[in-house]
Amino acid sequence: MAPDGASAPVQTQAPPEQEVNPLREGVRQQRTPLPCAVVIFGASGDLTQRKLVPALYALASDGLLPSSTSVVGAGRTEMSDDAFRAAMREGVEKYGRVELRDDVWSGFAQGLRYAVVDFQAEGGFEALKQVLAECDRDRGTGGNRLFYLSIPPSGIGRVATRLGEEGLNRAADSPGAYVHLVVEKPFGRDLATARTLTEELHRSFNEDQIYRIDHYLGKETVQNLMVFRFANGIFEPIWNRQYIDHVQITVAESLGVEGRGNYYEESGALRDIVQNHIMQLVALVGMEAPADFAAETVRDEKVKLLRAIRPIAPEDALARTVRGEYGPGWIDGERVPGYREEEGVPEQSLRETFVALKLDVDNWRWATTPFYLRTGKRLPRRATEIAVQFRRVPHSPFDSPRSSVVGGTIEPNWLILRIQPDEGITLRFAAKVPGQTMRIRSVSMDFLYGSSFLGASPDAYERLLLDCMLGDATLFAREDEVEEAWRVCTAILDAWRTHPPDPAQFPNYEAGTWGPREAHDFIAGDGRAWRRL
Ligand code: BG6
Repeated sequence: MAPDGASAPVQTQAPPEQEVNPLREGVRQQRTPLPCAVVIFGASGDLTQRKLVPALYALASDGLLPSSTSVVGAGRTEMSDDAFRAAMREGVEKYGRVELRDDVWSGFAQGLRYAVVDFQAEGGFEALKQVLAECDRDRGTGGNRLFYLSIPPSGIGRVATRLGEEGLNRAADSPGAYVHLVVEKPFGRDLATARTLTEELHRSFNEDQIYRIDHYLGKETVQNLMVFRFANGIFEPIWNRQYIDHVQITVAESLGVEGRGNYYEESGALRDIVQNHIMQLVALVGMEAPADFAAETVRDEKVKLLRAIRPIAPEDALARTVRGEYGPGWIDGERVPGYREEEGVPEQSLRETFVALKLDVDNWRWATTPFYLRTGKRLPRRATEIAVQFRRVPHSPFDSPRSSVVGGTIEPNWLILRIQPDEGITLRFAAKVPGQTMRIRSVSMDFLYGSSFLGASPDAYERLLLDCMLGDATLFAREDEVEEAWRVCTAILDAWRTHPPDPAQFPNYEAGTWGPREAHDFIAGDGRAWRRL
């Protein structure tokens, strides 16, 4: 139970009778939180306009938020309520999933307020406190708060502490009342700094008030991983080392660093994608079945899996990881600059924009079944997928002059979970090519979200913001998950520090290619190959 008065009560509403359509069944299920004030620190930033407010507007438009919900922008920049409303309207129009409707917008916009906050100055929170008091009085937000820290990492601990000093960390004394704090990645730069950040946050907030957001967990396809694994009987018996040869997880992006050169130069692909998004996928693919779907039960299982990952020893780092940096190249017929030509990136940068690595999981389910992970910027296309390769048949009765296999040998079965785009699942298996001879070739059995379910999926931020208001932390990373993921990544970072890339070799892949040659060699060394996306 949350110290701030437990999770908000959930009202679950079945769809009205006339809406039931077999393709939409289960798609609409309402959960309505208590009214609250969502306070966004860093409100003049990109994320607020692109993601957060469009997500809140979409929730309001779908009737999932109480009409009294308020959104308070907070930051150092001076801005009037009306200027804030205008900027947010532009964001909803440009980036929103749902079209802006004037009637919905006028109600939503009444709850949009802005307050200047000076974190250093005494009394620097007075304007915010006043706006919040007005929201409670005029709109009935009841002291419920969702503080969203969309600010640079260096400010997170400080703002959390100031909220505590101002008494803004405590919920009202009424049933279901809550104060939740949402924190964006990066959660530190390594294990030590992640721990320091957690300690700082814990000075003012209890762990169950803290929601560490990883937007991958809000994606429908990522949530479906748990349903796929634990609501179907046929996969579980073969989901282990006996039947699975290896797992590949790819997060490929065709975009470059998109004007975030300064951030990326500090971060690199390992911290930006592997430590959080990919490690979450590893946990969901590898975890044991939770006894129920409660936040702590699910997160306990994920942590157990992460704990079982064998750290990469410094002497193994070069054989088990590959770093890459993109040079100029071509994507979709367009010339794109190399990483070193991006704004904010030093000319001699050795920062990795691509990483491939091999992890072993030391438990009974996964011993001898490695996980190969790769991510990169400026790869030929955007695609995130989990590909599970099953073991080959122990003996083929088709190796005879009377039969032939397209490609020479029978391909192993693959199960491919496409996280994005073309969201869906594919099973690859061998089939007989129709005709008078016994010819064998691999074919696909496909499930596509778009054809099985009507209606666009909500954006990840919609789901996560709503869950946070409802007090459901299942899809948020707990402190120990973050630390375990850092334990694995910090070992790699430490090893890389002692073995920096050879400056003569970087950049080592051309934009628009699937990464450096070494990434292919390193998996080929195990007798395996990356799946062609
Ligand atoms: C973010 C990273 O967390 O995820 C970005 O900081 C990356 O560098 C983005 O582009 C990818 O998210 P998605 O949802 O497009 O796969």
